[in-house]
Amino acid sequence: MSSSVLSTQLIVALDFPAAAPALALARRLHGHVPWCKVGLELFTSAGPTLLTELTHLGFHVFLDLKFYDIPNTVARAVSAATRAGAHMLTLHCQGGERMCRAAVAAAQEQPTPPLLFGVTVLTSFGPGEMPGIGTTPQDFASQLAHGAASWGLDGVVCSGHEVAAIKTQSPSLRCLCPGIRPAGTAADDQRRIMTPAAAVRAGADFLVVGRPITAAPDPLEAVHQITMQMASVTHPLTTTHTNT
Ligand code: C5P
Repeated sequence: MSSSVLSTQLIVALDFPAAAPALALARRLHGHVPWCKVGLELFTSAGPTLLTELTHLGFHVFLDLKFYDIPNTVARAVSAATRAGAHMLTLHCQGGERMCRAAVAAAQEQPTPPLLFGVTVLTSFGPGEMPGIGTTPQDFASQLAHGAASWGLDGVVCSGHEVAAIKTQSPSLRCLCPGIRPAGTAADDQRRIMTPAAAVRAGADFLVVGRPITAAPDPLEAVHQITMQMASVTHPLTTTHTNT
């Protein structure tokens, strides 16, 4: 009998104003979290050399700059980000088919292509808050995810509330979920939030967690708590094959 177990991976968002505190936390969490995320604040402050340092520490690096520009510019940014060491990147699904396909083509030209994730609807948007969009965040996220799948992206960024519908519609897409909040922690500016256990149960492939770890009195203990909560439930696509 052989079994293949799909597990959800944790990403810690290193949302810091400079390289020094980001690297200090990364060193503390090394071996306990497989991925770290470099976002707008840290990348703007620390630049691409930080990606190399995080890679050398042993992390998979998720560069979350949410590219949204003309196809040529995004394609070149994907190439540059991959050369700098990013293993996973984000771009906005609202950039549309030509932008996303240009990004996919640029990624595939790299010796080690990064995973490309399309941002659907930011988890900070609640119902009625998206400018000019009449539908719900859930429906709009599903529409954008449908495009992402047909344009060749590896996955989408969405809230845990949208994972089941997106995976039913596009089973090959991986779902990366921010807006993760352990029970009893502050939502902050996030609106479509979910606990780590609920997001795993919904089928999320990656959970990205920032402040519940970075602002915790003991970030390593916060990681352990979140990891235990993730392990306490079963991913819906967990499969067991019996070879007879
Ligand atoms: O601190 P918190 O856990 O809310 O951080 C969530 C992280 O995920 C932030 O770094 C934010 O930029 C990122 N993110 C998000 N919503 C998206 C995409 C990325 O919150 N749709």
